[in-house]
Amino acid sequence: MKKQAKVISVINWKGGVGKTTLTHHLAAGLQHISADEFEGFLGHRSLPKVLLVDADAQCNLSISCLTPERFAEMVYDSPTTIGTLKELFEQFLQNEQSTINVEQYILKACVKSGNDKVYDHIDLLPSHEDLIYTDMNIAVYSRPNFDQKLIGADIYKFQILNNILNAVKNQYDFILIDCPPNLNYVTQNALYASDFYLIPTIPDRLSSYGLSSITHKVRSLNDLFRSAAKMYKETKLIGIVLNQIREYGGKPKDTQDNIISTLKELFPTDIFEHYLTHGDGISRASAHSCPVFAFPHSNYTKQIDGVINITREFLNKLGDGVVV
Ligand SMILES: Nc1ncnc2c1ncn2[C@@H]1O[C@H](COP(=O)(O)OP(=O)(O)OP(=O)(O)O)[C@@H](O)[C@H]1O
Ligand SMILES: [Mg+2]
Repeated sequence: MKKQAKVISVINWKGGVGKTTLTHHLAAGLQHISADEFEGFLGHRSLPKVLLVDADAQCNLSISCLTPERFAEMVYDSPTTIGTLKELFEQFLQNEQSTINVEQYILKACVKSGNDKVYDHIDLLPSHEDLIYTDMNIAVYSRPNFDQKLIGADIYKFQILNNILNAVKNQYDFILIDCPPNLNYVTQNALYASDFYLIPTIPDRLSSYGLSSITHKVRSLNDLFRSAAKMYKETKLIGIVLNQIREYGGKPKDTQDNIISTLKELFPTDIFEHYLTHGDGISRASAHSCPVFAFPHSNYTKQIDGVINITREFLNKLGDGVVV
């Protein structure tokens, strides 16, 4: 069966809530789900092929996959530096029918699964620190003889990432985009290119406050995109994943629990039942540029099981058509 990736943006304009951690771990979690569980969803029993897209100039996802040293060497230091999402944005901004071979920009099998081992089915489209200028470059660029306006800008300015990903969608089951903590052009491109979006958050008052604004903004962007591009299909919310939960006696501590209850009232069907606990497993994994699965299960049972359960719920929500 020919693949046609589901594209999912992991977004929240609040910083440090776990976007990168969740994106990285979801890709790994999908490699640990049994074939029976995803067969119904994917229609095949081989491990899901996942493309990670680092759309953040902080390059945290690229570093989480490659280590800071290897990433710097590959992208900035070496005489034969590799291409990144930044160059692809530049090329596809000027010409949507770019002759560029997108595949050449993708690093194959670059997420560590253990000592000297990698997940064969997870690839990465890396970022570049100069992607920080891409929003501005898109804003000032003017394609000759183009005048189909959207929010005061030409519609092609929101379709760049979609055109890039269309070139490789048939090779993946999932494309997961780690978005930056803002709603500038690159993030809007990610939303345009995505079938779904997933919001990680932490249970504090200020983070919770911003959640409605995210869903409202995505809704109005969907309306705007649809008005300008008839083929556009709305980007749907998969759900909201709670991160950094501190437990006491097997359940969230009271202060967090109160916020979680409020969130469940506000978003009754959207909050994931499973959450990710705050813990050393994720911190240690981050320090070693690998997902928590790379360590023996017994060391970090809580967080490994948390990721598996979130992944399972993610698949169920997609499969159930919650978001149809
Ligand atoms: N469940 C967790 N337990 C412990 N540490 C965590 C957990 N989740 C995230 N972290 C740590 O918190 C920090 C922020 O997480 P992360 O980088 O994933 O957030 P982000 O939303 O991507 O941030 P940004 O907005 O800057 O892109 C990282 O150092 C990460 O390792
Ligand atoms: Mg991040």
